[in-house]
Amino acid sequence: MDYSNVVIAISLLLALSTSVNGQVIGFPIQSPAPAPAPGPQYTNLTELLSLAGPFHTFLNYLVSTKVIDTFQEQANNTEEGITLFVPKDSAFSKLKKPSLLNLTTDQLKSLCLFHALPHYYSLADFKNLSEISPVNTFAGGALYSLNFTDVSGTVHLTSGWANTKVSSAVHVTYPVAVYQVDKVLLPEAIFGTDIPPTPVVDIAPTADSPASKNVAAASPDSMSPSSSHRMMSSWAILNHLFLAIAGGFLIFL
Ligand SMILES: *[C@@H]1O[C@H](CO)[C@@H](O)[C@H](O)[C@H]1NC(C)=O
Ligand SMILES: *[C@@H]1O[C@H](CO)[C@@H](O)[C@H](O)[C@H]1NC(C)=O
Ligand SMILES: *[C@@H]1O[C@H](CO)[C@@H](O)[C@H](O)[C@H]1NC(C)=O
Ligand SMILES: *[C@@H]1O[C@H](CO)[C@@H](O)[C@H](O)[C@H]1NC(C)=O
Ligand SMILES: *[C@@H]1O[C@H](CO)[C@@H](O)[C@H](O)[C@H]1NC(C)=O
Repeated sequence: MDYSNVVIAISLLLALSTSVNGQVIGFPIQSPAPAPAPGPQYTNLTELLSLAGPFHTFLNYLVSTKVIDTFQEQANNTEEGITLFVPKDSAFSKLKKPSLLNLTTDQLKSLCLFHALPHYYSLADFKNLSEISPVNTFAGGALYSLNFTDVSGTVHLTSGWANTKVSSAVHVTYPVAVYQVDKVLLPEAIFGTDIPPTPVVDIAPTADSPASKNVAAASPDSMSPSSSHRMMSSWAILNHLFLAIAGGFLIFL
């Protein structure tokens, strides 16, 4: 009796775990005969970000700049999907300098767009990203690129201002990947290249220390794009075009 129950349980688990392309995808609770989903599922980004985290500060910025619609549109309507790097509320409250308070609406918008890539990347894909770094973000352009490095399995991101890491995977299901990052990503295009030296101890907000002499300004040859870089760029351009067109419509409404 006991044995046959175990056998049934094991074969059920095997059947469930090898469903899609032989990929282990976790165990759905419901019976194993649901209607096949037509295309990728709709992921409500607002809902996702309001339930996880807390990511309220970032979500508020996304909503006030309407960038949330751009991201949702990308998630809804593209094959590419989207990858978001979301700082927790505490990352924003720790951010004293530079301040986000006196940014213009356009700068705030770029800051939000800087936290996303116009492509879905699973954790396994980050190895490739470190090879093709710098990677253009949704904000587009070389000054809005991020560098990725894989440090013994942990993904590090460098934006010039912030050197941070992916601290957890919040949601990784095509077409939407959301990763939590430890710091707000600050693009050089907004905050300049006059970056204070990285403090050795993480806290210590060194007040007004002179800008370090060894911060190399972005070298011109870092602008020469690799082919994959160019691909990301053209996506960014497409997105900009879309934004421009969408903006045009809004004016007529
Ligand atoms: C997405 O979620 C938000 C917050 O839960 C909700 O207000 C909104 O109506 C949802 N949007 C859609 C299209 O379901
Ligand atoms: C995304 O898709 C949902 C469900 O189909 C829809 O309600 C929502 O308006 C769409 N949002 C955008 C920005 O396309
Ligand atoms: C914001 O204001 C501070 C002084 O209050 C100034 O030093 C800083 O440059 C300003 N930042 C921007 C992006 O304008
Ligand atoms: C990552 O690289 C591997 C081989 O190096 C390749 O098979 C895979 O398709 C790449 N993934 C992406 C998202 O480019
Ligand atoms: C990113 O990597 C490129 C090439 O390795 C380098 O030239 C550039 O300075 C790096 N940028 C940042 C912000 O670390």
